[in-house]
Amino acid sequence: RCQSSSVDDKPKPKRSLLDNASNLLTNLLSGGSLGAMPVAEGAVTDLFGRPLFFSLYDWFLEHGSVYKLAFGPKSFVVVSDPIVARHILRENAFCYDKGVLAEILKPIMGKGLIPADLDTWKQRRKVITPGFHALFIEAMVRVFTKCSERTISKLEDLIERGEHGQNYSIVDLEAEFSNLALDIIGLGVFNFDFDSVTKESPVIKAVYGTLFEAEHRSTFYIPYWNLPLTRWIVPRQRKFHSDLKVINDCLDGLIKNAKETRQEADVEKLQQRDYSSLKDASLLRFLVDMRGADVDDRQVVINIVLKLVSYAVYFFPHRANKSTKLHVLCKLRDDLMTMLIAGHETTAAVLTWSVFLLAQDPTKMRKAQAEVDSVLSNGTITVNQLKKLEYIRLIIVEALRLYPQPPLLIRRALQPDKLPGGYNGAKEGYEIPAGTDIFLSIYNLHRSPYFWDRPNEFEPERFSVPKKDESIEGWAGFDPDRSPGAMYPNEIIADFAFLPFGGGPRKCVGDQFALLESTVALALLLQKFDVELRGSPDEVEMVTGATIHTKSGLWCRVRRRT
Ligand code: HEM
Repeated sequence: RCQSSSVDDKPKPKRSLLDNASNLLTNLLSGGSLGAMPVAEGAVTDLFGRPLFFSLYDWFLEHGSVYKLAFGPKSFVVVSDPIVARHILRENAFCYDKGVLAEILKPIMGKGLIPADLDTWKQRRKVITPGFHALFIEAMVRVFTKCSERTISKLEDLIERGEHGQNYSIVDLEAEFSNLALDIIGLGVFNFDFDSVTKESPVIKAVYGTLFEAEHRSTFYIPYWNLPLTRWIVPRQRKFHSDLKVINDCLDGLIKNAKETRQEADVEKLQQRDYSSLKDASLLRFLVDMRGADVDDRQVVINIVLKLVSYAVYFFPHRANKSTKLHVLCKLRDDLMTMLIAGHETTAAVLTWSVFLLAQDPTKMRKAQAEVDSVLSNGTITVNQLKKLEYIRLIIVEALRLYPQPPLLIRRALQPDKLPGGYNGAKEGYEIPAGTDIFLSIYNLHRSPYFWDRPNEFEPERFSVPKKDESIEGWAGFDPDRSPGAMYPNEIIADFAFLPFGGGPRKCVGDQFALLESTVALALLLQKFDVELRGSPDEVEMVTGATIHTKSGLWCRVRRRT
């Protein structure tokens, strides 16, 4: 169901005998292990009839902000409280890993940052984060502009050639945003032009195939793909592995090329963070040129020593060398694959829902266009101009509030922990045993009636009105002064009631990249076109995997502005 129908309007699924029996069983099986925590009376139909996060929201209103959801012998703790979220994500972050999510993503992302275990994560995060410094992001604005202009030309062509008398064209903007975000991530992260806006290629098909499988795995409750032989027997698993090979070969080729074309002049420019004259400003170039020596080479040495020692025993030294190279290549490839997936669908979804919301509100659409007209001229967009696009930036964050990507964060307790008492939760907090699986519902936090006025309404302006609610114990309220100079409202300003990019040490590394990218793309689209939904908003149904997207596209009437 889409935004226009309020969460309360949604019909409650009818409970069947099977559901009730399953509830009884699950409560018996899981009862008591999490103390006095309320238990959601989930029914089997809740898990299949509609996106899971809707049911989690209903149970949140019914059971409070920390409750246990049990299905089968498995149970999850569902958290919708900023104090508890702050504890899990920031204050006691290293007590948790990614649990179920890592199990799903490891076959795709390997040891990339998102699924990485804590030891790997600590090492890799130090390597990746410096690549996203402010001057890199500024240099990326050129890439965002170039790719967005390509999308705009395509839309202009469609209108020109269209059957509606050169007046407008009916376009699935979700598909266009997906192509745009893929092109941007390709150029920004590894200087590879997918050019998916204008053509199709085996690599693009493989990327979409892999995303499709990741989504299937995240919504399928039995991990049948782990059973022996499935990768050869089940057709969709065979396709998945062949898609993965296409992407891995492409990424390995790009890494090899970046290593072979390393030039001292570029390294010097990167050392001085001088992106102005660099031909290739990608993250891969930075990682190979700047971090290659101090990370990969050290790993190479350690690995060579370890492997040589072990292989020497068996007199196979040549294998040691090959395996070491592969290991190093894999780590970098895993990180690139992670960013390709993490930075693609998420940004496309933000643009999709921003347009979906704006298209239903002509007044806000005109206000946004007026701002764009007053700030942008024809030509390159600068960061200074982006700073002046305040309303566009607020539209993006408000879309992220209403449609968080992903709607759930997943964690597993590595040790026993005690969750703090939170608003609407137990005063004393709950003890949780090691191994507890946790869903942090960002969707619930972002639409919580306890922290947001009119939580289901699209009101970008809400972020410019400071709200300090001292009445809620432990929650320090919404306060822009906490993060002075931030271009976009963030989790610090909202004291963890707003978590579009997570929070704490595992917060998204690409947040500023994604926000500026979305701002540029939306501004350029609104500068050129008026956009209306083709049908009623109710027809735009939601489905979820890792992100919230539409069931069959965001079909819009796109008209050239006069
Ligand atoms: C992590 C959201 C764009 C790379 C995350 C997390 C969220 C998130 C919520 C935290 C996950 C968790 O705690 O379990 C988003 C959204 C985006 C976006 C909403 C777009 C609007 C990007 C982009 C990149 C990226 C463009 C890279 C170019 C990553 C990586 C992590 C991550 C590598 C893992 C960080 C770590 O564990 O250290 N993202 N992301 N994301 N994101 Fe993003």
